[in-house]
Amino acid sequence: MDWGMKNRLSRIIRPDTGKALMLAVDHGYFLGPTSGLEDLENTVAPLLPYTDSLMLTRGALRNCINAKFPVPIVLRVSGGNSVLEEDLSHEDLTVDIEDAIRLNASAITMSIYIGSPHQHQTIVNLAKTVDMGEKYGIPVLAVTAVGKEMTRDERYLSLACRIAAETGAHIVKTYYCEDFDKLVKKVPIPVVIAGGKKVTEKDALELAYKAISDGAVGVDMGRNIFQAEAPVAMIQAVRSIVHHGNSVKKALDLYSSLKAKKK
Ligand code: R5P
Repeated sequence: MDWGMKNRLSRIIRPDTGKALMLAVDHGYFLGPTSGLEDLENTVAPLLPYTDSLMLTRGALRNCINAKFPVPIVLRVSGGNSVLEEDLSHEDLTVDIEDAIRLNASAITMSIYIGSPHQHQTIVNLAKTVDMGEKYGIPVLAVTAVGKEMTRDERYLSLACRIAAETGAHIVKTYYCEDFDKLVKKVPIPVVIAGGKKVTEKDALELAYKAISDGAVGVDMGRNIFQAEAPVAMIQAVRSIVHHGNSVKKALDLYSSLKAKKK
């Protein structure tokens, strides 16, 4: 791995803990003004000091994020569909590598849809993204998007993550599932988990704890942070699990005390 690639990866996965806390706010690329992100600029600004990196689209980045804040960027480079379409797998690459470089992306990210009608196109697009990333030393985070008809079990998610790794992705983002430790052993690149739909703060912290205990390198959480009752407190609680190994109880106590202090 060359110096630039290693250096960029170390902005995503912190070398001192070997873990990664990523904040995902890229939902608008197919969902539009997602609940909690209507005012993306003001929702995300107070969360930035607590995340290791920020995953979003170039439009959100240019329009809503202060360029002077030194947060590493994980730039979404796939899209081309909307929630109004039945088959969400019909995605393509939507950002030129030169624009990703111009935006100082620390990593680029795109979705693959294993088992969906356009799986071929999305896997080939991942390969192209990896080729571009390798050319300029930019790591690629593959997201295993799951079609409605797919079961989010270890068998399916291992298949999707392993294909991402074999295609050349440097990190893969997937969903937590039962026997997640088995998945991690079958995937030779770092695995981060998505948070998924909003659940209670306790359940979201439990999810983060179980994922880290089972070998995930980190969490790339969106809705369970920005839709929480107290998002700034929530991101600090998640962070305490990812980087400091806090138990769920300790993290929940931290959340409650920060929430009470409105921090
Ligand atoms: C999925 O395709 C996108 O990357 C999502 O924006 C992200 O995975 C969602 O994160 P969460 O499920 O934690 O809201």
